[in-house]
Amino acid sequence: MNILLFGPPGAGKGTQSALLVEKNGFAHISTGDILRAAIKNKTSLGIKAKETIDRGDLVSDEIVTGLVDEVVDTLENKSFILDGFPRTVVQAENLDKLLKNKSKKVDKAIFLDVEKDFLVKRLSGRRVCKNCGASYHVDAMPTKVEGVCDKCGGETYQRKDDSVEAIEKRLEVYESSTAPLKDFYENKGILVKVPGLGSMDEVYNRLNEVVSS
Ligand code: AP5
Repeated sequence: MNILLFGPPGAGKGTQSALLVEKNGFAHISTGDILRAAIKNKTSLGIKAKETIDRGDLVSDEIVTGLVDEVVDTLENKSFILDGFPRTVVQAENLDKLLKNKSKKVDKAIFLDVEKDFLVKRLSGRRVCKNCGASYHVDAMPTKVEGVCDKCGGETYQRKDDSVEAIEKRLEVYESSTAPLKDFYENKGILVKVPGLGSMDEVYNRLNEVVSS
């Protein structure tokens, strides 16, 4: 089964994808992670995308579609989770076409539903490992030693786009560009809404039921 996880910034897509990879064996395709790796490695894509991402805008549909197309080719028949792609209706249409060309499809489009007040708290408290990308939260999931990743000992930092201004921008962009995907996938009959509030394990259990049914 191939799924996509979508929802507002901070809904828990990355956190839940990591659990679904670990416990259910999915491959994880995160356009946000791919773009951040490109920025870290100062590739031409990273240099081009950095400013756009830091201010909370979207990278072009064409670029992100190309990235996903390349990664899907490496997965052979492994089930995958798309996290953070598609984020616009154009991307969703592109995804349909590219998967059809590879005789694949998305089976469930899972909308992770979290209200705005919680999103701001989650995003402003997020800390990420510079080295391995593991994600933490200062209250909900702190590192054992402040500033040090539990998994690899790397230094944790706050993403530039987790500043208050960039969070506001990302929420606006989400409402105008990504929220319409709910109708897009409802019309296709594959939309599943999952409440994203509660502990990380509670949310995982809800998702596990959806992917196991
Ligand atoms: P991306 O990295 O995809 O950012 P996002 O969608 O804004 O999502 P986030 O990573 O901010 O949140 P999340 O839902 O994964 O939450 P998380 O699990 O970390 O994209 C970044 C940028 O790249 C975009 O703004 C854009 O510029 C560009 N980009 C990427 N894809 C693109 C595309 N397709 N098209 C164009 N541009 C694209 O959780 C957040 C925090 O909450 C963490 O601290 C976590 O520990 C905590 N938390 C999680 N779950 C819980 C819980 N149940 N209870 C308490 N705390 C929790």
